[in-house]
Amino acid sequence: MATEQMKTAEHELEMELAGLLDVERFDPPAEFKQGALLSDPAIYEEAEADWKGWWERQARELHWFKEWDQVLDDSNPPFYKWFTGGKLNISYNCLDRHVEAGRGDRIAFHWRGEEGDERDLTYADLLAEVQRFANAMKDLGIRKGDVVGIYLPMIPEVVIAMQACARIGAVHNVVFGGFSPESVRERMVFSDAKALITVDGAARKGKTAAVKQAVDEVMGDLASLEHIIVVRSKGTPCEMKPGRDVFYDEIMAAAAAECPCEEMDAEDPLYVLYTSGSTAKPKGVLHTTGGYLTGVSATHRYVFDLHPETDVYWCMADVGWVTGHSYIVYGPLCNGATSIMYEGAPDYPHKGIWWELVEHYKATIIYTAPTAIRACVKWGAEHPRKFDLSSLRLLGTVGEPINPKAWLWYHKVIGGERCPIVDTWWQTETGAIMITPLPGIVSTKPGSATRPFPGIKAEVVDEREGKPIAEGQGLLVLTRPWPSMLRTLFRDDERFVETYFRRFGKETYLVGDASRRDKDGYYWVIGRIDDVVNVSGHRLSTAEVESAIVAHEAVAEAAVIGQHDEDTGQSICAFVTLQGTQEGSPELEDGIRATVAERIGKFARPKRILWADDLPKTRSGKIMRRLLRDIAEGRALGDVTTLRDPAVMAALESQIRSEEANES
Ligand code: WTA
Repeated sequence: MATEQMKTAEHELEMELAGLLDVERFDPPAEFKQGALLSDPAIYEEAEADWKGWWERQARELHWFKEWDQVLDDSNPPFYKWFTGGKLNISYNCLDRHVEAGRGDRIAFHWRGEEGDERDLTYADLLAEVQRFANAMKDLGIRKGDVVGIYLPMIPEVVIAMQACARIGAVHNVVFGGFSPESVRERMVFSDAKALITVDGAARKGKTAAVKQAVDEVMGDLASLEHIIVVRSKGTPCEMKPGRDVFYDEIMAAAAAECPCEEMDAEDPLYVLYTSGSTAKPKGVLHTTGGYLTGVSATHRYVFDLHPETDVYWCMADVGWVTGHSYIVYGPLCNGATSIMYEGAPDYPHKGIWWELVEHYKATIIYTAPTAIRACVKWGAEHPRKFDLSSLRLLGTVGEPINPKAWLWYHKVIGGERCPIVDTWWQTETGAIMITPLPGIVSTKPGSATRPFPGIKAEVVDEREGKPIAEGQGLLVLTRPWPSMLRTLFRDDERFVETYFRRFGKETYLVGDASRRDKDGYYWVIGRIDDVVNVSGHRLSTAEVESAIVAHEAVAEAAVIGQHDEDTGQSICAFVTLQGTQEGSPELEDGIRATVAERIGKFARPKRILWADDLPKTRSGKIMRRLLRDIAEGRALGDVTTLRDPAVMAALESQIRSEEANES
């Protein structure tokens, strides 16, 4: 009976959503507009008329020990500098400033563990912890400019560690907890990290992963790593190497309570964050201090219409991705927000846990990824409907294009048709949100990130000459510097210029996405144009996955493509050629997936593995992925005349079709 009712309810919802599919645009709800920080569209023209002045006004919202001499130094593009000569400290802006203004008792984070454990941290609490940990790091000899790795789950210590680095001028390099220890090692080597902060164990849907033990297995001999600091979170046993390993709580207990802030130059590095590019080697995106904080705090305030006294804000991303850096840690703390931080998964202990937490903490703003919304759509509206979501007033998405159906479901089931949705387009490299609605001003269209944030200039250009296309599809570029832009790739200026500024010159930033612009000037980001795959909003390079696959002893060669996937946006499909005369088998598939999990992380495992006797290559030996995509998605093959051996395609196609027939 209950399931019958549920089925009817789901059916009714389907019909209602189908009815909404025809709505072309959604205007900001009147009630929202009334209370919004920004509701006058004139802000766009104002910022456009004097964009440096606009950013300068945003920078004035921060605390500076010394003001800048120059807003933008553009004398050596693409190496732009912002707020040169200015001195500030990010941790001071995020913590001390609020405490000094009497806001020390405000909750910075309502932290919630997977098993329901709760911990509230006020701004004063955070400041005390951060100062102590900053001193503890100094006691270990960590100084301004040193790189510190952070490999932690979603526990308050990850925020404390990042803020403590910012306080003393150490450069953090956070690695997402879903990456394997091998990936951590690689990132520690690339960035020459002096210390690594990690954890004994992490919660994984009722189980505990022994993180420190796994780290030891691959990190044992890394000489450059002088210290490993271990947070005791779950009580998981681990070995400690004398002279190298220390427990977080022990060094905290021995450290002094007060740690003054280092006065940082506006252009001093804040962090490096590795992200996937077109080659197997991840890129170390470098962000600096003054411009980055200006960009993330302004966008966080205006895109999320933050009213810090009353809002309860929840960014559901992991802190290990740029979304977590900018919109869990730096933007919200700088703006004095009260946030929710959740350690667990969206479906543990039950599929309504997110909505239970929204009700429990009376969340007003949530920010998540389209993949997560699609998962909720699949699980059914009955889960959110068990909880009171009436506290919500604004919804956000990031990470990949959102399909209109998921958008409408979010709008109706979660937002109760009263919450604007901000679909925010940006990247690790941009540091902050670039294309987005301002929720009190811009009408939204499901699937479009709408228009550039004030001060940002974007364009869609044609592939050949880079000429702007007013209406239609082309490559997305940013044609003006912005404060939170990456400054370079860590110790690799050449790759920085080559990747982003070779194609259309030193003043045009090549995004790497294709986009369409419609008659109203709205942007519809389509997806990557390079060999980067977006799985559940996680960026992966095909070359990175290929090199992990060929590490398997049975594999001779591999080619990886991103395939359309209803749940995860894209999924990984691998064409694998085996050594000698071996035959593919389910055991080999498992073995290959395990190798990828070990080398990169579980989230990079190929969903589909196709055995191929040979791969289509050009005369110069380059694998033609375009043809593989055609085959995998069952399309008619494109031009095969540039192939070295066109017969390969025919053979591959018939082989795959017969494999498919066997599977079904
Ligand atoms: C994609 C995540 C469509 C895009 C903040 C971009 C999006 C890449 C959107 C960056 C969006 C991000 N609509 N596509 N709203 N947001 N993307 O570096 O392809 O992990 O280039 O940064 O995600 O991924 P990254």
